[in-house]
Amino acid sequence: MRVLVTGGAGFIGSNLVHALISGGNEVAVVDDLSTGSVANLHPAAHFRSLDILDPALAEVMADFAPDAVVHLAAQTDVQRSIADPGRDRAVNVDGTVAVARAAAAAGAHRVLSASSAAVYGDPDDLPIQETAPKRPINPYGASKLAAESALAEALEGTGVDFACMRFANVYGPRQDWRGEGGVVAILGSRFAAGERPVIFGDGAQTRDFIYVGDVVAFILDALELESPLGGDPPDGPSYNVSTGVATSVEQVASYLRALSGVLVGIDHEPARDGDIRDSVLDPAKAERVVSWEARQPIEAGLAITWRWLSATLR
Ligand SMILES: NC(=O)c1ccc[n+]([C@@H]2O[C@H](COP(=O)([O-])OP(=O)(O)OC[C@H]3O[C@@H](n4cnc5c(N)ncnc54)[C@H](O)[C@@H]3O)[C@@H](O)[C@H]2O)c1
Repeated sequence: MRVLVTGGAGFIGSNLVHALISGGNEVAVVDDLSTGSVANLHPAAHFRSLDILDPALAEVMADFAPDAVVHLAAQTDVQRSIADPGRDRAVNVDGTVAVARAAAAAGAHRVLSASSAAVYGDPDDLPIQETAPKRPINPYGASKLAAESALAEALEGTGVDFACMRFANVYGPRQDWRGEGGVVAILGSRFAAGERPVIFGDGAQTRDFIYVGDVVAFILDALELESPLGGDPPDGPSYNVSTGVATSVEQVASYLRALSGVLVGIDHEPARDGDIRDSVLDPAKAERVVSWEARQPIEAGLAITWRWLSATLR
């Protein structure tokens, strides 16, 4: 299969590109390297350094003629989305429309687009199902939600099958510890440096932590699926990609501390604006439709991530 991956030099994208190439697929990456890095790129992937908002995207897409497009490029930083909501919206909403239109024009038959647990905001019930109310509490969540309907609109009547993948909290090798959102990478990097990590809030806030290998497995299975993924908007084409298991940030910190063997304490600072208290997503729909399930227990996923982090930061 010929697959074009936007954001393929980033955390999830680079793990996906490596898996796609190992599986014998032809892969092209479009990435502006704003948070991704050349070091993440697979040497066998065709690479174009380009902002998805650049009109040249249509030509790049047409030249590669992908069978499918996996759209992962985004402005992913919640604090930056609060500081500059205009740019967040441009990249996440207009960028998604540009990718969808270019994919359809180039003859792709499927588009898988990254959405987020952030579209739900603070939930009424846990675990959150795809049909739950969407009340994003920051501009990042709002732009991810708007991108879902913009994608459906852009692809309406084109015959291109599509899905919005609402990722829970993804962690694993190649996650940037210098960002603001990757709790596992940030805490792990502090332990690796022998420093006290900082937890925002009391640490009892929970997240649905999913190992990046499980996210990649979902995407590979979704690409191969013979039946359509799409359905009637707003929830038909949306899938929670998650474990359904809640783990507190404090618990993650204590697993990482045990893995590191570093006996330092943890500092607490006030919870940040735009942080959700509890988030666990129900993966039942993805399990049923795609015949996929998250397999990596958090202890094992953290151990792999710790080995990568400590080797990288050595
Ligand atoms: N990591 C998570 O826990 C998580 C959770 C929910 C959703 N997501 C979504 O998954 C996707 C991938 O996230 P990630 O964690 O790998 O982030 P990342 O920052 O590592 O990857 C994003 C990639 O997109 C590229 N990019 C950003 N803006 C671009 C633009 N305008 N044009 C071209 N390339 C651009 C960056 O350089 C980077 O390589 C994003 O859409 C994100 O919103 C991630």
